[in-house]
Amino acid sequence: MTTCSAPGKIYLFGEHAVVYGESALACAVELRTHVSAKKSDSVKITSKIGTTGLNFRKHAYVSSAIIKLGVKDVAVKITSDIPIGSGLGSSAAVTVATLSAINDEYSFGFGKEDIARMGHEIELDIQGAASQTDTFVSTMGGVVEIPSRTLMQPPDCGIVIGNTRKGTKSKKTAKLVKQVAALKEEYPEIIDPIIKTIGSFTQKGRILLSEKDYNSLGRLMNVNHGLLDALGVGTTELSALVYAARDAGAFGAKITGAGGGGCMFALTDSPKKTASAIKAAGGEAIITEFTKEGVLKE
Ligand code: PMV
Repeated sequence: MTTCSAPGKIYLFGEHAVVYGESALACAVELRTHVSAKKSDSVKITSKIGTTGLNFRKHAYVSSAIIKLGVKDVAVKITSDIPIGSGLGSSAAVTVATLSAINDEYSFGFGKEDIARMGHEIELDIQGAASQTDTFVSTMGGVVEIPSRTLMQPPDCGIVIGNTRKGTKSKKTAKLVKQVAALKEEYPEIIDPIIKTIGSFTQKGRILLSEKDYNSLGRLMNVNHGLLDALGVGTTELSALVYAARDAGAFGAKITGAGGGGCMFALTDSPKKTASAIKAAGGEAIITEFTKEGVLKE
């Protein structure tokens, strides 16, 4: 039996703008999906949803990964710390961990680039549209600049994720991307500069990250959050968690991912205090860490 785990991710900067070719910075976080694969006499997939064979409705990503690698006789077990469909890359993590566990169990010899590419193909198949961000970050770990795929060291300060528990399933991501596109089409002279500005955080962010200047990084996250709000992807609940974290002294706080619900995160040097504030504002608080480790064999 082989067990692999793959991390979730947050966007430090640049979601939505990345759809228009602008830069973004995403970072892996130490919330993992663990997948074990064992040669067996038939396909068996077990997760908290239940046990199935190949099943594209209940276990779409895992079934697709099994088909992609052409195996007919594998038992796969999944456990995960990543809230599903809330902007933290849960589908990428389960896809990447499944591909890697089967790859190792059957000694197929695929490298990390292959795993990231196959993972992206699977997300594209299932979701219709998906950026390479989630699968690439989940495979490689650390901070990744998109679209250049430059890898950087993650921040060494604290991170707290706030979950509004109003999920952004993949369909909802597509809906929000369309909503921004419609606004952009109606008011290009107003929205285009906002998208450009969102794309410009990445370059500054890289420098601040290398200088470990978390105060300035946090201030820019706050500005990025305001611009995402301007694009119409914020919600009352997301803003409540963002302001609660800032009021509790976090360096900065913003939406991560598509918005419309889902998660926010805060950079902080006092995670417990930030987490209490997020809870008091009605969110689920998850204290975690940034990680340089992508997919791992356990
Ligand atoms: O909510 P997530 O983690 O699926 O992120 C969506 C990010 C967008 O920029 C809005 C869309 C994309 O595919 O890049």
